[in-house]
Amino acid sequence: MSTYSTAILDSFKARFTTTPRLFFSPGRINLIGEHVDYNDGYVMPAAIDKGIWFALAANNSDQINMYSHDLQEEYSVSRFDIKPHKGWQNYLLGVINQVVEKKLPLSGFDCVFGGNLMVGAGLSSSAAVECGLIYGLNSIFHLTLSTLDMALLAQKAEHTYPGVKCGIMDQYASLFGKLDKVILLNCRTLEHEYYPLILRDYSLVLINSKVQHSLASGEYNIRRQQCEEGMKIIRSHFSDVTSFQEVTPAQVEQLKDKMDEKVYDRCLFVTQEIERTQRAAQHLQNNELEAFGKLMYETHHGLQHLYEVTCPETDFLVERAKLEETIVGSRQMGGGFGGCTINLIHKNDWAGVVQRITAAYKAHFKIEPEVYEVATSDGTYEAVEG
Ligand code: GLA
Repeated sequence: MSTYSTAILDSFKARFTTTPRLFFSPGRINLIGEHVDYNDGYVMPAAIDKGIWFALAANNSDQINMYSHDLQEEYSVSRFDIKPHKGWQNYLLGVINQVVEKKLPLSGFDCVFGGNLMVGAGLSSSAAVECGLIYGLNSIFHLTLSTLDMALLAQKAEHTYPGVKCGIMDQYASLFGKLDKVILLNCRTLEHEYYPLILRDYSLVLINSKVQHSLASGEYNIRRQQCEEGMKIIRSHFSDVTSFQEVTPAQVEQLKDKMDEKVYDRCLFVTQEIERTQRAAQHLQNNELEAFGKLMYETHHGLQHLYEVTCPETDFLVERAKLEETIVGSRQMGGGFGGCTINLIHKNDWAGVVQRITAAYKAHFKIEPEVYEVATSDGTYEAVEG
């Protein structure tokens, strides 16, 4: 048992008389394939060993009692009165609302949750919360949802309550993750393959800019709309196209004067990123990590100049990484506007390299960044006590 799970169980026992079951739901990294999950592309996430623990028990009533261990706040609501709410409650209520909408057999329950996943770092704490809750409810109320059903339900919860029109990557990775594996997910067919994460002499290191991204601020949804607008124009010229997976960057270039400048840039990025992710998968399979790293740098360049979802702090971290010979790839990860960069660094003195970058960052922005070496994990599971 980790210290977090023990703390969650203790917190539950201090509050409720029911007997809880314990679940862990991981955050995720994404090696490459950014902002293409909602554009029918490929993504390459992995579940990580940081996440959210849930202690859950049915309570034989109509009352749902929730407690955020990290924020030390409680909230109770009747299962017949589920509606949106601000703050952390919304992520849980969004999931419960989906269960109610699907007319699944839900009754009252007690719930304590919390964990060690940094909020706003691009590690998908919201998906970890949503997936942890639906996985736990599926187990205690025998809802008979498949893993894919749960991922789709959690995504719908995010769309409807927090209102972020996210793709499927985060929920999929949180639920389908596997220790020592990355997932190559085709977001069009929702089929995946696992690839072994063999890093040879390299480490994957996250550097948290500590700039908190806010997807709900609307920029994320705007990107999605711009891509939809671009797709309409593409289809009006290439009538057999059904998704971005079939569109090449050259085709987008042909339509440059038919599109608004921003829409053009977004579509160019998406088509390039879909191609890049497929090449990256090949490199990973062939264990060509230096070539893989180059593509990570290219992704950041696109995120910065075409998709425009980076910020001065993450741009700085990536530019600074380029000065270090032993960093073969670096890019901003996740929804954008802050959060972490993911770096592929040669093991030889990686701590010294990271120390130089973080010192430069601190001197420039007066922010002390946090650094973590990535460890993968299995997807959401029931933790056994003892
Ligand atoms: C967020 C969303 C994902 C995905 C990434 C960007 O994490 O939740 O669906 O779009 O941003 O790749």
